[in-house]
Amino acid sequence: MAEIGKDIASAKAFLEKGQLVGIPTETVYGLAGNALDSEAAALIFETKNRPGFDPLILHTSSIERVGEFVREFPEQLRVLAENFWPGPLTLLLPRKAIVPDLVTSGLDRVAVRVPQHPLTLALLEELSFPLAAPSANPFGYISPTRPSHVEAQLGDRIPYILDGGACTVGLESTIVGMEAGEITIYRLGGLEIAELEKLVGPVTIKDHSSSNPAAPGQLDSHYSPRKPFLLGDLQELIREKKAQGENFAVLSFSQAFSDLEPGRQIALSPSENLHEAAKNLFAAMRELDESPATVILAELMPETGLGRAINDRLRRAAAK
Ligand code: TXA
Ligand code: MG
Repeated sequence: MAEIGKDIASAKAFLEKGQLVGIPTETVYGLAGNALDSEAAALIFETKNRPGFDPLILHTSSIERVGEFVREFPEQLRVLAENFWPGPLTLLLPRKAIVPDLVTSGLDRVAVRVPQHPLTLALLEELSFPLAAPSANPFGYISPTRPSHVEAQLGDRIPYILDGGACTVGLESTIVGMEAGEITIYRLGGLEIAELEKLVGPVTIKDHSSSNPAAPGQLDSHYSPRKPFLLGDLQELIREKKAQGENFAVLSFSQAFSDLEPGRQIALSPSENLHEAAKNLFAAMRELDESPATVILAELMPETGLGRAINDRLRRAAAK
């Protein structure tokens, strides 16, 4: 089983040997390997059971180091990096040949971000190479936001998990690039669209679907619990499942249901705070997926701020 600890030197030593380490970030935990080593990248795909057409994000410690991996840094994207790094923002930039084909799935752009977690930033500063790090979950399952989530699913396949506690944002990074001169959002995430638009004006949000292999993280069915996950009006869903005699669990934004036992329901944010809801989302989905219930009933959040990214994940979890 993987060792779990806060020892940057251990993490560094494993990574320098070409092995993989679970790393904390503010968004979700990553499954990290040397991004400039094709063999380490191949090991990431194998360990996650991830299809080769789904490219990886490269993590580095500062905006200055990005020039080592990219040919150009368009001004509008640089402004975003200067304002939001370290943070939950990933930029798609034209890659240099030093980045292995495997990391970008052969695409001309490489995804880059500077994550905001003191342990991982310190680790990145000590390494001579950037880290490729997808979310540390088996492909298609719910992303991990605690060391225990990584341990539960990948613990027997990696030597070390760097323990940075619970992720503070709880949703993957927002992915941004330029397309036909426009700033384009490829994945809604932990950085709100309104925050980006304050700096660069209106942005285009790309309509993602499984028919769009250019952004494979956007496969319709993703972030999925193993159990059926139904989205709708909770009162109605509960009535229906009660009538059918089903053993259900409930995931709400803020409501508590007095006629249901506490173990069968989770309110993401009793005070209706979308940041808190985002932080709790994936851990709550896992907890209910592991509960005795055979079906999970959930509702959408308000479609504002982080609610948009949360709803994106909820819809994908419900898609089969
Ligand atoms: O918050 C995050 O971004 C986390 C943490 C660990 O940093 N990482 C993460 O990685 O969510 P992953 O592999 O689960 O999702 C990365 C997604 C890919 O599925 C793909 O959609 C997109 O990023 N991506 C990466 N490189 C790309 C590229 N060159 N062109 C288009 N999309 C790309
Ligand atoms: Mg992922």
